[in-house]
Amino acid sequence: MTTPRLAKRVKLSDAHLITRMLDIANGLDDVIKLGRGDPDLDTPAHVIRAGQDALANGATHYTHPMGIVELRRAIAESIRAQGGADYAEDEIIVTPGGQQAMFIIALTLLDPGDEIIVPCPGYNPYGQAAELSDATVVPVPMGMETNFTLTAEMIAPHITEKSRILVLINPNNPTGTVTPPDEVRKIAELAAKHDLIVISDEIYAQIVFGNHKVQPVAALPGMRERTITLSGVSKAYAMTGWRLGWIAGPRELMTPMSEIHHALAISTAAVSQHAALAALTGPQDCVAEMRAEYDRRRRAILQGLDAMGMGYAEPQGAFYIYADVSSLKLGVTASAFCERLLAEGRVMMYPGTIYGDHTDDFVRMSMTQPVPRIEEAMRRMAGVVEAIRSETRAEARAPAQ
Ligand SMILES: Cc1ncc(COP(=O)(O)O)c(C=O)c1O
Repeated sequence: MTTPRLAKRVKLSDAHLITRMLDIANGLDDVIKLGRGDPDLDTPAHVIRAGQDALANGATHYTHPMGIVELRRAIAESIRAQGGADYAEDEIIVTPGGQQAMFIIALTLLDPGDEIIVPCPGYNPYGQAAELSDATVVPVPMGMETNFTLTAEMIAPHITEKSRILVLINPNNPTGTVTPPDEVRKIAELAAKHDLIVISDEIYAQIVFGNHKVQPVAALPGMRERTITLSGVSKAYAMTGWRLGWIAGPRELMTPMSEIHHALAISTAAVSQHAALAALTGPQDCVAEMRAEYDRRRRAILQGLDAMGMGYAEPQGAFYIYADVSSLKLGVTASAFCERLLAEGRVMMYPGTIYGDHTDDFVRMSMTQPVPRIEEAMRRMAGVVEAIRSETRAEARAPAQ
């Protein structure tokens, strides 16, 4: 048989890199994984119990396509409690993870040729969802000058008459940075001026450090009708495997989106919806405890990076640190550094190119290991940095051939 032909939209470049790193890791013992954005922390026990009880009580069927109404009310309440807009229960769709929600939005709103403006580096499935809808992805490159956050000034030159959606990810993945509330206001005004729909990804909004605060876009004047807020329980409640997220927005957008959602999934797993209900309505100390744990890990990583003299974007939220390999002046790209660090140091992290970074200078480190493992990862990393440095010194000393 000839090799089956794949559709043109299939692009495998990012998958290749992650697969290669996973292949290297499979052949090694004791790899410290700071790669995936999947918390090592357990889902709180009361949430697991709620899932078990739900199964025992028959939550084994399809639910209302938009989600069980108790959960949609709890989501509305949680959005309100965090300073967001007011939503009725038919303005919220519960989805199998925020990830699928990106595809629902793109398939509902984007026609071929429409443009979607995305932060770069940023969570790349927004671009993938747009490409599947034959829309055009317009990246806005960010850098250290703004601590890897978007500003209205940076976005403005990328707006054309084809622009339709602007994506704001706050806190951002992979950079762990928070867009200041004043800047969010300016971005919202720009979006309103150009009649753009804003996707405000606030999935990490409960994981912020120090005095940083996330301004919900939909709560700003005139923004509720043009904003789709995307979030979920994966990150704040360590529930990635339950696959539960949501979108909230004005009824005129949510009704057609619920049709696409139904076509893709019918409904989100009933058991996960009951667990999410327990997460949102139960005690919230678990969220604060996890935030404090990430903060300890963040400090441990920063101590290691400072000792190595490695630069980084100031980590203000989410559980990522975006560190600058080029600041070490090793003469290797971030991608090559990641491969060597894995093969020789048994520490896994991802290069920023996976998230569309226009340079190959930065790596994303996930704070998904306990402090002692992070400290060990930092020791191993310092060892690999030193090994590369001594090679460079030896090459410089070697007589020219
Ligand atoms: C910024 C951002 N949004 C959304 C998601 C999707 O998460 P989930 O599908 O688990 O809800 C992720 C996952 O890493 C993310 O980083």
